[in-house]
Amino acid sequence: MNYSEIRKFVAPEFLFGKDSRLLAGRYFQNYQIRQLLVVTDPVVSSMPWYNAILMELNEAGLEYSVFMDVSPNPLDAEVMQGTEIYRSNNCQGILAIGGGSVIDCAKGIGIVCSNSSHILNFEGVDQIDTPTPPIICIPTTAGASADVSQFAIIRDTQKLKKVAIISKMIVPDLALIDPIVTQTMDPYLTACTGIDALTHAIEAFVSTGHSIITDNRAMNAIDLIVEYLPKVLKDLTDIDARFHMMMGSLEAGLAFSNASLGAVHAMAHSLGGYYNLAHGECNSILLHHTINYNFNAVEERYKKIMPYFSDYITNPTGNLRTDLVNSVHNFTAKQGIKSGFGDKGVSSDLLPHLAKNALNDPCIVTNPRDAVQRDLEVILEESM
Ligand SMILES: [Fe+2]
Repeated sequence: MNYSEIRKFVAPEFLFGKDSRLLAGRYFQNYQIRQLLVVTDPVVSSMPWYNAILMELNEAGLEYSVFMDVSPNPLDAEVMQGTEIYRSNNCQGILAIGGGSVIDCAKGIGIVCSNSSHILNFEGVDQIDTPTPPIICIPTTAGASADVSQFAIIRDTQKLKKVAIISKMIVPDLALIDPIVTQTMDPYLTACTGIDALTHAIEAFVSTGHSIITDNRAMNAIDLIVEYLPKVLKDLTDIDARFHMMMGSLEAGLAFSNASLGAVHAMAHSLGGYYNLAHGECNSILLHHTINYNFNAVEERYKKIMPYFSDYITNPTGNLRTDLVNSVHNFTAKQGIKSGFGDKGVSSDLLPHLAKNALNDPCIVTNPRDAVQRDLEVILEESM
C-alpha cells in the first residue's frame, strides 16, 4: 500500500494477564448492566477456573442466565435459540466464555437481538445496521481471536456452508485475555488453534487489504507463534509460553480483523460448513498449498516471512518458493497436523461444489491472486 490509499483500524479495549478473566463483573457494572446472558459450552463450563468467573459476577451484584448449547462450528439454530433465552430473561449484555465458536455464537445472538431478523440475513460485509448489546469476551483458545475481530462465522444448516458476517458493529466491547484459561486445552486443539492464528497472520500479511499497521501486527504474530507454539506443545503447563501464544493470537487477530483474510479461510469455511471439520485443522492442511498458489503474486511479501521459518527447512534448494512452502509444511506437520482431507472423509466428487462455495466467501476478495473456481479445485485436490 502507499499514502494514496485509505485504511482503517478497529480494535476493542482489551486487558491481558493472569486472572484478567475475573474483571468481567466490574466492567458490566460500569456499563450499568444488571442482567446478563453467559454464552459458553459444556467443556468450558466444567473447567476448574470457570466458577470463579461466575462468583465474581455474583459479587458484583449481577444476575445471569447461562446458554451452553453451542457446537464446535456454531449453528444458525443455536444463535436463534440463544436469542430467545436472552430476550425471555430481559438480558442487557453478553459474556462469552469460550473459543471462537462460543464467541461467534455470542456475536450472532447480539446481532439478532439488536436487529430483529434471522442470523443468516446478515451474511457478508457491513450488513448490520444496529450495534450489538455490550459483549465481553474471555477467549479460552489462542487462535480464533474472535474476541477482537469484526468477524463472526455461523454454519447454515440447510445449505451446509459457513456464513461469514463481517462488520465493525460486532467488534466486542472488551476482551479479557487470561493465559490461565488456555492451560486446559489438549495438545491437538492447541496445535489446531495455534495454526489457525498463524494462518490469520500470514493471510493478513499478503492480503490486498493490508496496511503498515496490520503488517506490524502480522509480523509480530508470526514471530511469536513460530517460537512459542512448539514450546507450548512440549510442555502444556508452560504458562509463560501459553501467555506468549495468546499474544501471538491477539496480534494475528488485530491484523486479520482489519486486513481480512484469503483463499485458505475461504476454502476452510467451505469445507468446515459441509463436513463440520475443525477450522484450524482445515487451515493447517491448506496453508502451504495456498502459499504455493499465491507465491508469484506477492513474492516480495513472502520473502519477508521466510526468515521466521528458516529452522524448518530440511532440504534447502535456494528457491524461495520451494523452501517457504516446504518449511511451512514442516512446521505445521511438526505440530502434529499431518493428514490430508482424504483421511477426513472429504469426497473428490464434491471438490467443485466446495470450490464454488469458497469463491463466494467474502475472504476470497482480499486474496493476493485472483482465483477462479478451477484454481481452488486444484488446491483442494492437492490437499486431499
Ligand atoms: Fe481462522
